[in-house]
Amino acid sequence: MLNLVAINAAYIVAAGLFIFGLKMLGHPESARRGNFLSAVGMLIAIVVTLLSEGILTWYWIAVCAVIGSVIGASAARLVAMTSMPEMVAVFNGFGGAASLLVAWAALFDSYGLFVAITVTLSVIIGGVTFAGSVIAWGKLSEVMTSRAIVFNGQRIVNTLLLLALLACAVMFCLEPSAQSPYLYGVIGLALILGIFVVIPIGGADMPVVISLLNSYSGLAACAAGFAINNIILIVAGSLVGAAGIILTNIMCKAMNRSLGNVLFSGFGAVKTAMKVEGEVKPISAGDAYLILEAANSVTFVPGYGMAVAQAQHVVCELGELLEAHGAEVSYAIHPVAGRMPGHMNVLLAEANVSYDQLVEMDDINPRLPSIDVAVVIGANDVVNPSARDDEGSPIYGMPIINVDDAKTVFVLKRSMASGFAGVDNPLFMGPNTRMLFGDAKASISEIISEFKP
Ligand code: TAP
Repeated sequence: MLNLVAINAAYIVAAGLFIFGLKMLGHPESARRGNFLSAVGMLIAIVVTLLSEGILTWYWIAVCAVIGSVIGASAARLVAMTSMPEMVAVFNGFGGAASLLVAWAALFDSYGLFVAITVTLSVIIGGVTFAGSVIAWGKLSEVMTSRAIVFNGQRIVNTLLLLALLACAVMFCLEPSAQSPYLYGVIGLALILGIFVVIPIGGADMPVVISLLNSYSGLAACAAGFAINNIILIVAGSLVGAAGIILTNIMCKAMNRSLGNVLFSGFGAVKTAMKVEGEVKPISAGDAYLILEAANSVTFVPGYGMAVAQAQHVVCELGELLEAHGAEVSYAIHPVAGRMPGHMNVLLAEANVSYDQLVEMDDINPRLPSIDVAVVIGANDVVNPSARDDEGSPIYGMPIINVDDAKTVFVLKRSMASGFAGVDNPLFMGPNTRMLFGDAKASISEIISEFKP
């Protein structure tokens, strides 16, 4: 058993590691170390809690840590980069369920009204998070339809569910007990509510929902921390809750959507975009090589298609070849390119692209008119000029990378298909645009082979 001073000192160290770790996640160069620091903080917090409460001995802590590490390491290695959002959904769900169970367990000890209220909050938020995350996972992995499921009277059903949930919660708090039928009611209704609030949201908006559920899982943990009077759980939960809501806000801003629009757009009106017409000018890899070889400045603009094609390594190789030919090479990163925050940064880091070549949208846009070639690799919505020019477009107002300002634009994709938002892209018919059709990795490999005699 540890004494109180040692426990609190360890908790302060763990909280410090969480905070510094989070701060370091803000830059790609320090993100890995930040992740590691936070993980060390979590290890300290868990070990100290288990020992101080006499829950497990060192032996069982070591056994569980090995089992957990094997599961975590295998998941991290085996899950494809494009399936990361699903994995995060599963983790959030587990977080919500864990908080629900921990808070429920607090009722098997002695407790007063305050604990009953915090248990209720944790059970409600944890239940909604668990069920909502399972649905989010189902939609993203296409185990169920990824379309928004809407029906007449949906809002009324949700309101009635919420009222019934609140009524059960109040009844439980008036006479709390671990076996109270009202507690079972709260758990059941929270799970149903979690399902009902996520089904009307389309699969396309799931990454935002997952970030929001991440925030909820933090709030559930925070409430569970109050229920069992554990300071570090309160700190960790608040940090996750705050970080999740900040990230949700950043994603909504970058898509020019309000959170309300994301959560309730299944009920919203459909806009009518301008019809996109014009001539598409295809180009071969050989001709693209000739233009690239003569360019003084080249910007790569990666998007979701680069992740699908796993083209990051060949993109980096082409970048190095162009630099060797005297061109200035940069990588323009849109905040919501791909399907999760930082998706492109992670892929390019994996391919060892130097961090100082990564340029954020607001910094690259003023530079684009002087750039010789912008190479769009599997990006579509994030370079769609109708977001800037067409008030009727569903994505109007979303900030974009203005690649059409560059002297020449190459768009690498397999077809004329639309992107995530399902809207046509006039960039493909632009006067300075050339379409290089095919899988992005194959197209870039072909260009690279032209560089090599
Ligand atoms: P998208 O608009 O989804 O376009 C991706 C393009 O990649 C598609 O048009 C597709 O065209 C092409 N593609 C697919 N596989 C390919 C392959 N193997 N080789 C070459 N091209 C391939 O991607 P984006 O521009 O990155 O935009 C991201 C979208 O996701 C935005 O609408 C954003 O709002 C949304 N979103 C992002 C996030 C985050 S946090 N990143 C969260 C929620 C929503 P073809 O089929 O013709 O090849």
